[in-house]
Parts: sequence; C-alpha cells; structure tokens
Amino acid sequence: MIDDLDTLVVRVRKAKKEKEIVSIAYHGNIVEVWERFDIENVFVDLGSDQTSLHNPWSGGYYPVGFSLEESNEMMKNNPDLFKEKVQESLRRQAMAINKHTAKGSYFFDYGNAFLLEASRAGADVMADDGIHFKYPSYVQDIMGPLFFDYGFGPFRWVCTSNNPVDLEITDKIAAEILTELMRNSPAEIQSQMADNIQWIQGAQKNNLVVGSQARILYADAEGRIKIAEAFNKAIALGVISAPIVLGRDHHDVSGTDSPYRETSNIYDGSSFTADMAIQNVIGDAFRGATWVSIHNGGGVGWGEVINGGFGMLLDGTAEADGRLKSMLYWDVNNGISRRSWARNRGAINTAKRAMEINPNLKVTLPNFADDQLLEGLF
Ligand SMILES: NC(=O)c1ccc[n+]([C@@H]2O[C@H](COP(=O)([O-])OP(=O)(O)OC[C@H]3O[C@@H](n4cnc5c(N)ncnc54)[C@H](O)[C@@H]3O)[C@@H](O)[C@H]2O)c1
Repeated sequence: MIDDLDTLVVRVRKAKKEKEIVSIAYHGNIVEVWERFDIENVFVDLGSDQTSLHNPWSGGYYPVGFSLEESNEMMKNNPDLFKEKVQESLRRQAMAINKHTAKGSYFFDYGNAFLLEASRAGADVMADDGIHFKYPSYVQDIMGPLFFDYGFGPFRWVCTSNNPVDLEITDKIAAEILTELMRNSPAEIQSQMADNIQWIQGAQKNNLVVGSQARILYADAEGRIKIAEAFNKAIALGVISAPIVLGRDHHDVSGTDSPYRETSNIYDGSSFTADMAIQNVIGDAFRGATWVSIHNGGGVGWGEVINGGFGMLLDGTAEADGRLKSMLYWDVNNGISRRSWARNRGAINTAKRAMEINPNLKVTLPNFADDQLLEGLF
C-alpha cells in the first residue's frame, strides 16, 4: 500500500525491471496516477477504471484535486459544483488515458459506466463516427466473443443444508461432469472448459467460501444441465443431504440487456432494446423456475440496463429433473439465438450445435450480406 506518487513510480519501475509479480495499491486519486505515469513514461500494458461511475453524483466517483472530506462536504452542500468537478475530473482522466493509449496501452471499459459518464461530461472518448466509444468494453473484446457467445456464464448453486461436506460433493460432481464433457467438446471451447475445470478443482483448496455454502462456476448450456441433473440425482440418493438452489449472475449470456455491458458485443442495432431479459424471464417462468425476477440497474446504473434472473430448487424429484432440463436449456439458448441473429460467429456455431443435440430446436440462422454490395445501393 503506497500513498505518495513519487514512491509509487519508483516501486512500479522496480517491479517492471525485475519482472516481479506483485499487486500494489495506491491510496489516492486515479487521475493523478494516469497523469504522472504519462509524464514519467511508465508504460501501462493494460488499463481500466473501476470507480463506481454508475453512481457518479453520490460518491461513486471522487474528483481529482479534493480530499475525501472536501468532496463529501461539497456533495452535500453544493451538489451542482460537485457535479461540475466530477465532470472536469473525467475529462482530465480521459485526456491522460488517451495519452497512454497513443503510446500503445490497451484500455477497456470495465462495465462501470466510465465511458458513458465520461462522454456525458464531454470527454474525448468518442470514436470518429460520434456514436460509438473509442475504447471497447471488456464484453466486446473478451467476455462476449470468448464466453457469452458460446453459452459460458456464471452458473451458481447454494447448498441449503449449509453443510461444507455437501459443497465438497457438488464440487467433485461438477469437476467430473466437466472433465467428461471436455472429451467431446469442439476445439473452440476446449480452453474455456480447461479453465473452468481448473477453477472447480482448486475451489476447495483455495477456500473461497464466506457465509453460505455456495459456488459459482462458468459453464455452457450442456455443462449447466448435466451438472444440475447429477446434483438432483445425488439429492435423490441421499449423497447430498438437502436440496440445492440454482441461480446465476445477471452478467451472463441471456439474462441482461445492457448496451454498455452484457449486450455491448451485439452489433445489429438491437443492443438498445430490452427484449431479451423479458423473454428470458418469461421462458424461465413457464419452464419451471422456482422464482424469477426482473430488475433494473445491475452494475451499470438505473435506466441503463434490464436484468432477468431466476432461482431453481432441486429437491431430488423427477419433476425437478424435468424442470431443470427444460429451463436451463432456455435460460442459455435464448441468448445464444439472439447473439447468433446478431451474426456473432461463436454464437452461430453454438446455435448449430444446440440444434444438432436437440433436433426439436429450430433457430433461424442469419445470412451474411456483402456490405460493399449494400453500400453501392445507397
Ligand atoms: N465488470 C464486472 O463484472 C463488474 C463487477 C462488479 C462491479 N462492476 C462495476 O465496477 C464498479 C466498481 O464496483 P465496486 O464494487 O468495486 O465498487 P466500490 O464502490 O466498492 O469501489 C469503488 C472504489 O473506487 C474508489 N474511487 C472513486 N473515485 C475514485 C478516484 N477518482 N480515484 C481513485 N479511487 C476512486 C472509491 O473510493 C471506492 O473505493 C461499479 O460501477 C460496478 O458496477 C463491474
């Protein structure tokens, strides 16, 4: 933990020179770090912003040049001035980031509304077309094309017994299922499968549980269904001592419409609609979810996103077995269809694979137009 910039620069230079693997926390304003690293030519390989800009006027972002106490006082007694200072700070921050990226740094939006708020503040963050941002969100470059388009998302479960032994059994079951599925997985998802297996195999050793005996594991439609099916059987046999509740994060394939985050890698114009979360929740409800929720705000801020979620109780019964297969299938493939219609290559392949596995599924596949030919028409 470092709280002055001089020491920070020296410490970071040392770590870079010695190729040291270390995490350094700087206690201060991020704008000053970007600016100082630019002046000192400290190269930033990878940069993002993780302030709470979904809530810019009430303490999610602290403007440069003021102490925490001064900012809190201004926020309370002079909110208009505080707003001005936040926007000034965002313009300065974007300017400094632009200097770094001109030198080759890779900057991405973390889904915290940084680019959105910076653009509202008039910062230089827009692309030449004046519509898009000049930097991608991590969903556009990473999470979308590598994970969501293949159906991988943060599947979750909670052991209602709250017994760590049950959680350990579920971890083992999940690892076995994924290892088995990986044997026949297409080449394009082998690395995702390997990462998820490594994660679940190391989960017990890393002791990540605080509170409920719960786990989160990235898996695709097939993985989620097979894991849930095996849990339900283990509950029926008494190997797991009590029911399990399934769920997932909003940050997933299908449940969320958010043009600045979850659906930011959907480029057919539909990212500004909020249909998918609604279809997701309606489909999940009819297909057997124990509860569903539709909400607004999740992460990127009120009015910028619609989230659909579900909970599903597995109690070891045949009915639960039917429900989990029907609902989890929809919960993932609804988003795969949408992503495939948007012509995302990974999702097209995943939709084709889902139709091969289940001949009853019919998803219309998109046709690719020749852009040059179209442009010639107008
Ligand atoms: N991409 C994702 O998956 C994901 C996940 C969780 C949260 N988020 C988003 O990331 C943001 C941060 O989430 P969090 O849970 O860490 O929030 P948080 O509010 O707990 O932490 C944000 C921190 O930023 C600090 N901060 C504010 N302005 C600063 C400045 N100018 N310089 C330095 N520090 C400053 C705050 O003091 C606070 O400690 C939120 O907008 C959230 O929605 C994204």
